[in-house]
Amino acid sequence: MAKSIKILDKEFSVSISSDEIQRRVKQIAESINRDFEGKEILFLSILNGAFMFSADLLRHITSDCILSFTKIASYEGMQPGEKSTELIGLNEDLKDRNIIVIEDIIDTGNTIHDLISRIEQFNPRVLRIATLLFKTGMYSYDHHVDYIGFDIPNDFVIGYGLDYNGYGRNFPDIYSLKTSQKNNS
Ligand code: IMP
Ligand code: MG
Repeated sequence: MAKSIKILDKEFSVSISSDEIQRRVKQIAESINRDFEGKEILFLSILNGAFMFSADLLRHITSDCILSFTKIASYEGMQPGEKSTELIGLNEDLKDRNIIVIEDIIDTGNTIHDLISRIEQFNPRVLRIATLLFKTGMYSYDHHVDYIGFDIPNDFVIGYGLDYNGYGRNFPDIYSLKTSQKNNS
């Protein structure tokens, strides 16, 4: 395992090893299995970042489940600064389902908040959030984040699905931006 990697102009060093990730992902799956015993789960994996976490998590799920991938598309409005978002690729009926949204990382929480508000409009029975990474102290919304892999400091991370300008999703470990690189953008 390389301790340091360079992606485009930035250097990163390992912060969470693949072994640690795999152990934690299994523990999360075990909690979900306990919480949803005998119930069917609809997993909504948020593209692109959550693809790897979703794949590893589902290998340990024992409840009946369906996996669907969705993506948030945002559009610039006609007015300056006006933005609207839409869930795309969603072809499951969400009404009365037990839904677990799978995210790679929650930073400010804006993305997950927008997503949750959209899903709630379909009246699911249960709506939970599973995120691999959670940036401590950044989240300011009411909706509880039910399953968290790792609380991390507010540093930019890549690997295990997470990217820097599209690169770095392929690494099995998670890397964080080296301190010396932070004011270097
Ligand atoms: P939020 O809306 O601020 O919670 O940010 C969530 C989204 O920003 C995630 O789904 C990621 O796509 C992206 N993001 C936030 N922090 C990082 C990071 O450290 N590395 C890579 N992507 C990040
Ligand atoms: Mg993302």
